[in-house]
Amino acid sequence: MSNSSGSTFANVALEFVRVTEVGAIAAARWIGKGDGHAADKAAVDAMREYFNGIDFNGEIVIGEGAKDEAAELYVGEKLGTGKGPLFEIAIDPLECTDSVANGRSNAISVIATGPKGSLYRAADSYMEKLAVGRLASQVIDLDASAKDNITKVAKALGKDVSEVTVAILDRDRHETLIAEVRATGARVQLFTDGDVAMAIATCLRDSPIDILMGLGGSAEAVISAAALRTLNGEILCRWKPKDEKHVKRLNGAGITDFSQILRTEDLAHGDNINFIATGVITGPLAEGVTFIPEAITTHSTVMSTDPKTIRFIKTRHINE
Ligand code: FBP
Repeated sequence: MSNSSGSTFANVALEFVRVTEVGAIAAARWIGKGDGHAADKAAVDAMREYFNGIDFNGEIVIGEGAKDEAAELYVGEKLGTGKGPLFEIAIDPLECTDSVANGRSNAISVIATGPKGSLYRAADSYMEKLAVGRLASQVIDLDASAKDNITKVAKALGKDVSEVTVAILDRDRHETLIAEVRATGARVQLFTDGDVAMAIATCLRDSPIDILMGLGGSAEAVISAAALRTLNGEILCRWKPKDEKHVKRLNGAGITDFSQILRTEDLAHGDNINFIATGVITGPLAEGVTFIPEAITTHSTVMSTDPKTIRFIKTRHINE
């Protein structure tokens, strides 16, 4: 239910839409130019400037990297005017840099927020992920086989296994998983980038995607969980560091148990969680930025847990 601190958090979340809008517009100017780094930097610069005009007391817990790796939007960086409640922020200024560089699909500028102690400190590495929408949220198990999970999800959704669609990142590391899923008779929808939008797509009625499976980024897991908290979906994750360097990084962050299964509520915990995203290039979550001579149009989604709401915001930014 709504309360005064809930509405404070939700109101500031609405302010954050302007941040993801400017990030998306800045990144969209780089679509198809072959330079993902420039697209990411453009989003970072635009967002950081906007953040600091908003009355809030923010700290980045997931960002562009550690302080010595990133000049802006680094983990530990303080944002906002310093007035108002303390917010933790997980930010991906440009989720899917390669999609923007290559003019593909499914890129967003995205922020997740919550009160102090709410967002899991996910050092940068990989996680095994299994995500579904509300109807199947109680039946998935990261220790079970792909076949068992698909069979149970199909039953929960009232579908035949052959009608279930599983989204999997198109990577060599998923070759065996893809074969296992296809052997069940289910459909595989491969995607080149963007497992935040694909995790969320499992909860959207107008999306064909029923399950997200496979390894993806850890930051993206936390950001996805923030949205799934509102949507009553479930994401189960387990650390899968790629190499020794990742193991060291995780150990350095105090993460030593790689067998633990992290659930949605572990990744984005408690009340007043918000998720704010603006489409850069069209994907399941939002349409991309469009430019016409007199205006720029953006499409954003704002999800809040208190009360559970989703707002779809189409903004026409009129040129001077
Ligand atoms: P970026 O925003 O860093 O480009 O991430 C895009 C993405 O596809 C994520 O959605 C996903 O979690 C991750 O990359 C997978 O990592 P990798 O490309 O190394 O397989």
